[in-house]
Amino acid sequence: MKFFVDTANLDEIREAADMGVLDGVTTNPSLVKEEGNVDFHEHVFRICEIVDGDVSAEVTATDFDGMMDEGRTLHQIHDNVVVKIPLIKDGIKALRALDEEGIRTNCTLCFSPTQALLAAKAGADYISPFIGRIDDISSDGMTLIDEIVQIYDNYGFDTEILAASIRHPTHVKRAALAGADVATMPFETLTKLLNHPLTDNGLQRFLDDWEAYKEARKAEAGME
Ligand code: G3P
Repeated sequence: MKFFVDTANLDEIREAADMGVLDGVTTNPSLVKEEGNVDFHEHVFRICEIVDGDVSAEVTATDFDGMMDEGRTLHQIHDNVVVKIPLIKDGIKALRALDEEGIRTNCTLCFSPTQALLAAKAGADYISPFIGRIDDISSDGMTLIDEIVQIYDNYGFDTEILAASIRHPTHVKRAALAGADVATMPFETLTKLLNHPLTDNGLQRFLDDWEAYKEARKAEAGME
């Protein structure tokens, strides 16, 4: 499974990249807004220079021509850029047209298996089902991942399933069990994957015992 961070924050991206387990980054207009007064295209370039992997950057046009223009411009920024296209009618058209121009895409805002089927048929490189937002309305986001995995498997689509709107480690675990290709998560969630109290307690016990062992060796050497 590939790990992406879902952030536009350069410090978080650098820290995740330093861990050596980062395969890419996803951004969206809300995440870019959190970074304040930055130039969007320049910011995308800076992210691409940090990460050796795919970096999703989203169009904000909602009509076909506008999405094509923005998609081509984003594509020019860096080889790592994957153009994020919303799952609407003109978006489906744009996915197909961008694919024909050799521009890679991530189809975003997916909330149903039939939307995912459409995106795959249109040639999307990634589909982004939003797990957490489905859970937010008292439904089960993970069922959507299971269903997309099965549908893509049934027909041999090579669109990668990018589990998005991940909120906690259990989402990551369940997406991995379901066979999602990618999990994109906030940096905080990535660090939470490490946490286990038995690891902390176990390490402390090993370190304490090591100190005791060294003390005993020293004492024994003193007696000789
Ligand atoms: O990048 C899209 C997605 O991950 C958004 O997550 O937490 O805003 O639902 P969230």
